[in-house]
Amino acid sequence: MLRKISILIFALSIAASSSYAASPRPVCARHAMVVSAESLATNVGLSVLKSGGNAVDAAVATALALGVTEGYSSGLGGGCFILIRMATGETVAIDGRETAPMKATRDMYIPRDSLAPTDLSQTGVLAAGVPGELAALDLALKRFGRLPLTEVIKGAVALADTGFPISRFYWERLEFNKEKLSRFPGTRSVFFTSDTTVLQWGERLIQKDLAATMRAIEKAGVDTFYSGPIPQMIVDYVASEGGILTLQDFENYRPHAREPIHGNYHGYEILSMPPPSSGGIHLVEILNIIEEIGIGYLGAGSAGATHAIAEAMSRAFADRAVYLGDPDFSTIPIEGLTSKAYASELRAGIHRWEHVNPFGAGVPPGWMPDTTDGHTTHLCVLDEDGNAVSLTATINTGFGSGVVVPGVGIILNNEMDDFVTNPGMPNYFGLVGAEANEIKPGKRPLSSMAPTIVLQNSKPYLVVGSPGGPRIITTVLQVIVNVVDHNMHLQEAVDFPRMHHQWLPDRLFLERGFPIDAIADLQRRGHKIAYGGLWSGATAILSDTTTGMVFGSTDSRMEGAALGY
Ligand code: DON
Repeated sequence: MLRKISILIFALSIAASSSYAASPRPVCARHAMVVSAESLATNVGLSVLKSGGNAVDAAVATALALGVTEGYSSGLGGGCFILIRMATGETVAIDGRETAPMKATRDMYIPRDSLAPTDLSQTGVLAAGVPGELAALDLALKRFGRLPLTEVIKGAVALADTGFPISRFYWERLEFNKEKLSRFPGTRSVFFTSDTTVLQWGERLIQKDLAATMRAIEKAGVDTFYSGPIPQMIVDYVASEGGILTLQDFENYRPHAREPIHGNYHGYEILSMPPPSSGGIHLVEILNIIEEIGIGYLGAGSAGATHAIAEAMSRAFADRAVYLGDPDFSTIPIEGLTSKAYASELRAGIHRWEHVNPFGAGVPPGWMPDTTDGHTTHLCVLDEDGNAVSLTATINTGFGSGVVVPGVGIILNNEMDDFVTNPGMPNYFGLVGAEANEIKPGKRPLSSMAPTIVLQNSKPYLVVGSPGGPRIITTVLQVIVNVVDHNMHLQEAVDFPRMHHQWLPDRLFLERGFPIDAIADLQRRGHKIAYGGLWSGATAILSDTTTGMVFGSTDSRMEGAALGY
C-alpha cells in the first residue's frame, strides 16, 4: 500500500514539475534584452539601447532593420502592431494595420468568370492595402521614445545600402517564392541574377532604392512616405499594373493608439492586441477556458491537455469567424468574449473524452491551408528601466504581394487577403469570416497578430509574440502555458512541439514530436490529426523578478538572435 502511495506521489510530482531538458538554456542578461527573428536587426536594436535609447527606440530601430534584412516578412510596404508597457504603468496598443484602398469593393476578388485569376488578393498590386508600419513606428517613437527618427533609422539605412549576405533561411524563402517574384520587374531587379536564378545563399543583397527611400525619410520625416513624390511613384506604378491605390489613400492613412486587451491567467495579468486583431481577444478567451482544467497537472504534450486546449481553441476560432473585424466598422463584443463567465459556459460544453465538432464544419475535398510559407516577424525589447515592447510586423505571406515598387524599393503587402474576399471561401490560412470582416473602403482587415506582455505583480514578466497567421494566437498561448502551467524555462517553452486547432478545417494540427501514444489517444477521442509544415516562430523575453535576470529566446525552428547586457 505504502509503495503504491509513494509511486503515486512520484508520478504526481513528475507531472507537476514537468521540467524538460531538450532545449539549450535561453540567453541570459542582467539589465536589458532585445530579441528578434534576425540577428543583424537584433544587433541594431541592442546598439540603440546601449547608446541611450529606451525599449521603444530599440524596438523601432529593430523593426526598421527587420524590414531590410528580413524583407520577405515585414517592411515599409506592410503594417504592424506595437504593444507598449512603460515602466510608469502606461500601456498602449498601436495599430499600424493596412487599410483597404478607397476604391476597394466587397466583391473585388470574386472571379467574374472561370478564366479570371483567383489569386488577386494574394499576388500583384491589387492585393495591397495602404501601408501602415512607418506611421505606427513614428507614433510610438514620438509618444514614448527618447531618440529622434534620424537616429533610430540609421542602422536600417546602412543595411539596405551596403547589403548583407543572404542567409540560408532567406534563400529558402526566395526559392520557394521564385515563380511569384519573377512576375514583377522591380522584384526581379533586386532578387534575381538571371531570368530564372535568384540570389544564392551567401551572396550579398543590396537594396539601393530602399536605402534611398529611407534616406529621404531620415531627412524629411515620415510624412515623405505619405505625401509627395514617394507615394506618387508608388501609386503611378500600381496604376500601371491595374491596381487601385491612390495618393489620397496614402495621405489619409492614420495609425491608432488603442486600449489593449486585458485578461488574467493563474494570477498573471495578460495584455495583448485588440481589434482589428483577433489575437488578444482569443488568446484571453482560450486561456480563460482552460484555466480551470488543470493543464499543468495533465502534463505538456499529454493527450488530456492537448484535447482540452484543442477544444478551447476551436470554440474561440468559431467566435473569431463570426464576431471579429475592424472595430471602427462594427461593434465587437470584446467584454463578453474575454469574460470568465462566457469561458465557463464554453468550458461546460467541452466533453472530457471526446472531440465534438458541434458546428457541423466540413473540409472541401483536397483542400488544406497552406502553411509552408506564411511570413511575419516579431520582436521583443525590455530595457533597464522596465519599459517593455512587443511588436509584430508583417507584409502577410512570404514577400507579400511579390511586388517591389521600382524606384522605391519597398515590397507591397498582400494584406487584403486577410479580409473575407469571397464569402464562404477560406483565405490563405484557411480562415473564414463573416460580414464583420468583409471589404469596405478604408477598413482594416482582421488580423491574428498577438504581441503580448504578461505582468507579474504589475511588472513585465513575459514579452512574447510570433508569426504564423492563425497559429500566432495558439503559439503565444502555448508559450504562456508552457511557462505558467508546465514550469518550463523560456527556451523549452518556445521550442516545445506545438498543436493548433482553428475550428475550420476540423483538424488537430500537430508538430512532429508528439508521442505516438498521445496521438493514438487523441484519435480515439475523435480528433482528425494533420501534420503542419513550417509552423510559427516565437520570440520571447522573460524577466525573473526574483533574481533580476532577463532571459531571451528565439525559436529553434527559425533564425534570430537574443542579445542583452
Ligand atoms: O495579420 C495576420 O493575421 C496575418 N497577415 C499574419 C500573417 C502571418 O503571420 C504569416 N506568417 N506566417
